[in-house]
Amino acid sequence: MSCLWMSLAGLVSAQELESPNGNLEMEFSLLENGTPTYTLTYKDKQVIKESKLGLDLKNDEADLFNSFSQADVETSTFDETWKPVWGEEKEIRNHYNEMAVTLTQEETGRKMIVRFRLFDEGLGFRYEFPQQKELGHFVIEDEKTQFAMSGDHTAFWIPGDYDTQEYDYTESRLSEIRERMASSITANISQTSFSPTGVQTSLMMKSENGLYINLHEAALIDYPAMHLDLDDEKMIFESWLTPDVNGDKAFMIAPTHTPWRTIMVSDDAREILASRMIYNLNDPIAIEDPSWIKPMKYIGVWWEMITGKSSWHYTDDFSAVRLGETDYDSAKPNDTHGATTEHVKEYIDFAAEHGFDGVLVEGWNIGWEDWFGHSKDYVFDFVTPYPDFDLEEVRDYAKSKGVEMIMHHETSSSVRNYERHMDEAYQFMKDNGYNAVKSGYVGDMLPRGENHYSQWLVNHYQYAIEKAADFKIMVNAHEAVRPTGVARTYPNLIGNESARGTEYQAFGGSKPNHVTVLPFTRLQGGPMDYTPGIFEMDISTFSPDNDSHVNSTLANQLALYVTMYSPLQMAADLIENYKRFPDAFQFIKDVALDWDKSIYLEAEPGDYITVARKEKGSENWFIGNVNGETPRTSRINFDFLNKGQKYIATIYSDAKDAHYKTNPQAYEIKKVVVTNKSKLSKLSVPGGGYAISIIPAEK
Ligand code: NOJ
Ligand code: CA
Repeated sequence: MSCLWMSLAGLVSAQELESPNGNLEMEFSLLENGTPTYTLTYKDKQVIKESKLGLDLKNDEADLFNSFSQADVETSTFDETWKPVWGEEKEIRNHYNEMAVTLTQEETGRKMIVRFRLFDEGLGFRYEFPQQKELGHFVIEDEKTQFAMSGDHTAFWIPGDYDTQEYDYTESRLSEIRERMASSITANISQTSFSPTGVQTSLMMKSENGLYINLHEAALIDYPAMHLDLDDEKMIFESWLTPDVNGDKAFMIAPTHTPWRTIMVSDDAREILASRMIYNLNDPIAIEDPSWIKPMKYIGVWWEMITGKSSWHYTDDFSAVRLGETDYDSAKPNDTHGATTEHVKEYIDFAAEHGFDGVLVEGWNIGWEDWFGHSKDYVFDFVTPYPDFDLEEVRDYAKSKGVEMIMHHETSSSVRNYERHMDEAYQFMKDNGYNAVKSGYVGDMLPRGENHYSQWLVNHYQYAIEKAADFKIMVNAHEAVRPTGVARTYPNLIGNESARGTEYQAFGGSKPNHVTVLPFTRLQGGPMDYTPGIFEMDISTFSPDNDSHVNSTLANQLALYVTMYSPLQMAADLIENYKRFPDAFQFIKDVALDWDKSIYLEAEPGDYITVARKEKGSENWFIGNVNGETPRTSRINFDFLNKGQKYIATIYSDAKDAHYKTNPQAYEIKKVVVTNKSKLSKLSVPGGGYAISIIPAEK
């Protein structure tokens, strides 16, 4: 590590820091007016040009943006290996060089520290506000962190939005974001975009000189989510924080700090996927005994509602519901309600027969006749089942079959209501043997005018996770803020949605290359409850009024269990569709959820990803390949396997004439013997892919 102190005519000082392997170099300096700046290079290629750092405060003439002088700089090295409760590998190395620059403003006497951590895969930095007389309470009007790009990169972006991430990615040059913005903003139940050049993180880019660059944040706690706004003349991104209802960004009390701002970079796209920098920038586990946190494979009464085949609600009699007053007993049941005792028992039987850990049931509780769109405060109470769902009977039946029930708490964004009921709802879960909850935040927020990603809501999602941990409950939150590695600290956060998931395949379809982008973006912060495993791509075959098409081949759907890492994996399709393809379904039954090791074999954002993973505590391996729009032959070798050992590889791949649109169900299954000398060339069709299970052959 090098750290230089230069003092040029008393005006400018610069500190340099290198990453442990020397590939990355950063420099910190103060401009003449005392504005802090930084730069970043990777193997001598510029990643971040001179970029300003600082914050604007509300009602305050002295912002934390200029007039700084440097009081102190401290450097150190950190190298530690930790074991995640679940993950893509059993051990994670956290190795970085750190530089903490203490700045003071002479006029105000205020102190601020900018702490940089330089890893081999990127840079993280944050602002820290130590305890001091001169700065106690303050309100951030704007964070003014810049990320000055070195060129007009190709970016994989979704529109900046205070309320949703459920967008398809647009691939374009940075200079084209403005003209592509309007067509990239597709409809959502709750959405608020803010700028024609505003985009969300994690943002993935590729430079003309071969660098893969990713901008995101880590450890988003007690602060609003950060978006990026591009000055598309200068190619400078600036942080854009999600405001609250009054337009304020963050209420701070020193001592405190911001989340980490992260820049990952490599000349090899696979290294972006393999990086654990975001987790490493989060605090170590806060749960003393995490033995109750377990990966889960589940099915659920879900796809049938999403596709319109059945309904969440129980009756068509009501146009409005007042909890506690509306009389459900006198209502006529419709004949489409999904969550009936009998139907749920079929799912439990199927789960037990095929070795699934859990069954999710949505639409089990009263209130779904009228659950969003009216800014309704009392929506659900999370404890009262519909008359045709006998919770005790279902609970006892599941228990007798060795299957866990997964609770569903749709808040419909009435967060006030959820917090009102949360203790009781979690206790109710425990009383009835539920250890995992899927929560959801559909629709506009209550308190009214709040945004899904503002500081207040970020604090709510965190509160729900921490409270759940007290009850030993695992959380899978949909529509919450996108993850930033907080699951290192709270591994009971076993899933999030916070992106465009499989549900959109039933709402008009997603781009066929969507799943080749998500691991580079959304998955950087933590696992996604993507809900793969759709075998019937023509939804009208079972839900006649829905003509949406699932833009994926069946083999691609299998591969997602490996490429979209998550300790929580759903087999999302209807039971009847699995029964039609028992040989392909076998892969979903076999595939592991937790891993000793993951090796990214091939990767290019928007085009393809191939990964091999070794099951935790076993010698079994699984490989997944997903492919974008262009047909491609994937070429891999198996040199990661044990020397001298023979394995049986079962290869589930696209048939030659498969295509996500015209022939998605054409697949082949082949069994072959492989060793660590074997090689494979395999065609993946548009929207296609392959999945392989590799099991040691008996000696
Ligand atoms: C949206 C979620 O993403 C979906 O999974 C869920 O079924 C609905 N909300 C209803 O809660
Ligand atoms: Ca959703």
